[in-house]
Amino acid sequence: MNDMFDDVVSAYINGEFVAPADAHISAFDRGLIFGDGIYEVVPIYGGQAFRWDAHLARLNNNLDTVGIRRPCTRQEWEQVLTGLLSRVSDKAHYLYIQVTRGVAPRNHLFPESIAPTVFAYVQKLAPVANRSVAKGVTVVTIADFRWHRCDIKTTSLIANVWLRQQAKEQGAAEAVLVRDGVVTEGAATNVFAVIGDIVLTAPRGPNLLPGITRDLVVELMDRHGVAYEERAFTEQQMIDAEEVWITSSTNEIMPVSRINDHAVAQGRPGPVFQRMYDLFQQYKAQCRTDAKQNVG
Ligand code: PDD
Repeated sequence: MNDMFDDVVSAYINGEFVAPADAHISAFDRGLIFGDGIYEVVPIYGGQAFRWDAHLARLNNNLDTVGIRRPCTRQEWEQVLTGLLSRVSDKAHYLYIQVTRGVAPRNHLFPESIAPTVFAYVQKLAPVANRSVAKGVTVVTIADFRWHRCDIKTTSLIANVWLRQQAKEQGAAEAVLVRDGVVTEGAATNVFAVIGDIVLTAPRGPNLLPGITRDLVVELMDRHGVAYEERAFTEQQMIDAEEVWITSSTNEIMPVSRINDHAVAQGRPGPVFQRMYDLFQQYKAQCRTDAKQNVG
């Protein structure tokens, strides 16, 4: 039973650091009953939270949007992070943060003056498989049947887990979701396509999560003069694209080599992917150097 927690290095609940197997919450927690919560997944590289400011800003934004009280100041989150990272090696990990509305008898209405439940843990991050980066992954397109506030990073994820499972059952690594003929995002990733000489990714809006990795890739393209536009593209345009990539905090940038039964271009990662992958790795390395200099 404890084996399932082997990769979880440390955990925290409501002010206390606990052994992962002892991380318990009430069965009346609204996170469990309604999926009434917000979460974040933050990569940890070299013992440092990657793009921490952006993750904290998105967390606070989402909490404000759904009316859950912000449970921690920035300084308090940093204390949680420091505590969770105290036993972490130099290898890649990720931080999971979940804030739910709290514990109360079941009632759809927001209960007054209850304290949010804060749960966080740090887990080893499986290295992004070199093979997938070299060969690309297979995705399938599926109709996006989620709600109209996919910009909120909520723990209500039944649609996303179901869509990812459907992809797996079709032998694919990800479900790329299509709404009214237009690609929105993946079940847990954002999507980029190289069409003509330009990289396209869907603009921010209610139909997709504003991914922190997506935003970093856009920032790197901007900084390094790679032609791009935040513009929607159709399923067919994606299938015909020269290159397709997916991005997320746990997958970084991942090339797509097959969509449904079609090979993307030559069926292997293209030159624009390679450029962005290298820029991304350089950026990670630079963050590590900067962090070391700040400490030293
Ligand atoms: N998922 N879109 C969806 C629906 C997501 O769930 C995610 C991330 C992304 C990419 O966002 P980011 O670059 O900020 O990780 C896009 C996380 C990793 C998860 O649920 O595990």
